[in-house]
Amino acid sequence: MTRKIRYGGDYNPEQWPESVQDEDHRLFTAAGIDTLTVGVFSWSLTQPAEDTYDFTALDRILDRAAAEDRQVCLATGTAALPPWLAKKYPEVNRTDFEGRRHRYGQRHNFCPSSPAYRRLATALAARLAERYADHPALLAWHINNEYGGVCYCELCAEAFRGWLRDKFEGDLDALNDAWWTTFWSHRYTDWAEIEPPSALTEHWRGPDHTAFQGITLDYFRFTTDALLGCFLAEKEVIRAHDPETPVTTNFMGMFRPLDYHRWAPHLDFASWDSYPPLDAPPTWPALAHDLMRGLKDGAPFWLMEQTPSTTACRDVNPLRRPGELRLATFQAIAHGADAALYFQMRASRGACEKYHGAVIGHAGRDDTRVFREVAALGRDLAGLGDAVLGARTPARTALVFDWDSWWALEISDGPSRLVKYQEVVHAYYRAAREAGADVDVVPQTADLTPYDVVLAPVLHLVKGDLAERLEAVAERGGTVLTTFLSGRVDEHDRAFLADVPGPLASLMGIRIDEWDSRPPGFIQPIPELESEGRLVFEIVQLRGAETVATYGTDFYAGIAAVTRNRYGLGEGWYVATALDQPGVDQVVRRVLSRHDLIGPYIEHKGLEAATRIAPDGTRLLFLLNHTEEAAHLKACTSATDLLTGKQTEAGAPFTLDPRGVAVLRLQ
Ligand code: GAL
Repeated sequence: MTRKIRYGGDYNPEQWPESVQDEDHRLFTAAGIDTLTVGVFSWSLTQPAEDTYDFTALDRILDRAAAEDRQVCLATGTAALPPWLAKKYPEVNRTDFEGRRHRYGQRHNFCPSSPAYRRLATALAARLAERYADHPALLAWHINNEYGGVCYCELCAEAFRGWLRDKFEGDLDALNDAWWTTFWSHRYTDWAEIEPPSALTEHWRGPDHTAFQGITLDYFRFTTDALLGCFLAEKEVIRAHDPETPVTTNFMGMFRPLDYHRWAPHLDFASWDSYPPLDAPPTWPALAHDLMRGLKDGAPFWLMEQTPSTTACRDVNPLRRPGELRLATFQAIAHGADAALYFQMRASRGACEKYHGAVIGHAGRDDTRVFREVAALGRDLAGLGDAVLGARTPARTALVFDWDSWWALEISDGPSRLVKYQEVVHAYYRAAREAGADVDVVPQTADLTPYDVVLAPVLHLVKGDLAERLEAVAERGGTVLTTFLSGRVDEHDRAFLADVPGPLASLMGIRIDEWDSRPPGFIQPIPELESEGRLVFEIVQLRGAETVATYGTDFYAGIAAVTRNRYGLGEGWYVATALDQPGVDQVVRRVLSRHDLIGPYIEHKGLEAATRIAPDGTRLLFLLNHTEEAAHLKACTSATDLLTGKQTEAGAPFTLDPRGVAVLRLQ
């Protein structure tokens, strides 16, 4: 098979009479489809009873794919229980936040701590691996599907206690100290007294309102690890039969419930499903792509799912406009995807996804607009060949993304429940991207030595030696930027016994004793930036830093809202309030320009530029026009557009169509 960007999607021919497969493959060939994700929800077919396995349908699907020269990303199918299993072993059904044991229904419905689930899921994965490890169609293993959800059953409670014993090395005093349990008379004297934090125990008003942040944080971590344990158990049995084929599971980008950084080392490659919020600017999915690329140190990832046209699960499901699919797909590739797959290849006839977009609709036509766009994109990808495969992003700017900070911030009582982690992080990411900088989105533990600029907005919880590594960035001449509500708590959510922002204070050259927070309608002018602050207003005292911008009103009028501190050869920047986007843009541009990181096309609003460097050193510049108007540009270097073959000389004018894309090989 030719080396190229993988193209295809979720394919469920087991839902159809076999003859439909003939038509499917004819259409796949017409659309340039080479990769099929198979078996994601086929457990009840492959194992109709505990002691009966039936691989007839999968055999046919894989054999047929091989005969057609297509490859298969084979799912283990363990994300949706068969009814017999739930009936026979009721423990597999989850218990929800309110303490209700669920009965059989839906999907993603298994308790991660259930021994019956673990035994039967791994047995199925082992059978599949044994049967298909050497199948010529096999390309990758796709374990489960979109892991997520939380269970609060007795098995999980017991597993949580075991997880805590390991974490605190059997020392209950250490747990009491970490959770600060002397508060509200919570000192535990026996591990058995510990309960999962739920509506029946520590929470009120839902999952974000907890009496003990430390307990809830640990339950988030436990849930991450419990589901990861399910993944690892399946991976282990696959590896026993198949030592080589890469293994993944499809993530959901910025998905709060699971800390994907804890999973990352265990994946052979990252993959994710992109369904951006309806009103999201293009930088929103871009941030998720970069986060996914960051999971494996910048290695390419797969776009495992996106809709070719429309979703079904929202109250309102708008259609992708002509050109949007192509633009979104090239955006994924520009940010590091080496595969572009759909959910789904053929529309389901019944149940809740029957109106979900698909490459092939219910009428099975090849002359729909969607099919034509999918096929045209198939031709684009065939034309690109292997030019982009394995290419890396040469980012000199890093953005620290941290699930612990996300959780700790959003389950905190005070100073403001209105600060949303993703929104603040996105504002800084957006500012950097719209200024033309490539950005790596990295965990707190990342090696920061390759970066000139490190953006660490709302870094609420600071772990390990991060503060020293940030100081080292500044010492050698780099710039570190952080914001309000950073450096507040340690890994257990205990406040640092130091001036705010705790371990970041010396790098920032400031001290904060007080902070104000106000309702969303309240606006604090920031005159020097001609911008506005909202939600939280930290009152900054200078301890070496200089003032960049101040608050305009109230008793802290004239006090610093944005500061800059010289540190070693570099700088530490602090933004003490939730600046509006123009304010964030200005601050980030000042930081980037210090390192000559402003891109050449920033005057063109809605034009995205992203660079990848191919393994042979070729520089590829992706230009993506996210607007509905043509963009008239001037080439900054001589280049060839790999999509059209057109050459442009440095300085020559060229045009990008509305929603147009260029993949420029720079000379
Ligand atoms: C994904 C899921 C698919 C399908 C799709 C619909 O989250 O993995 O199975 O349900 O959403 O948008």
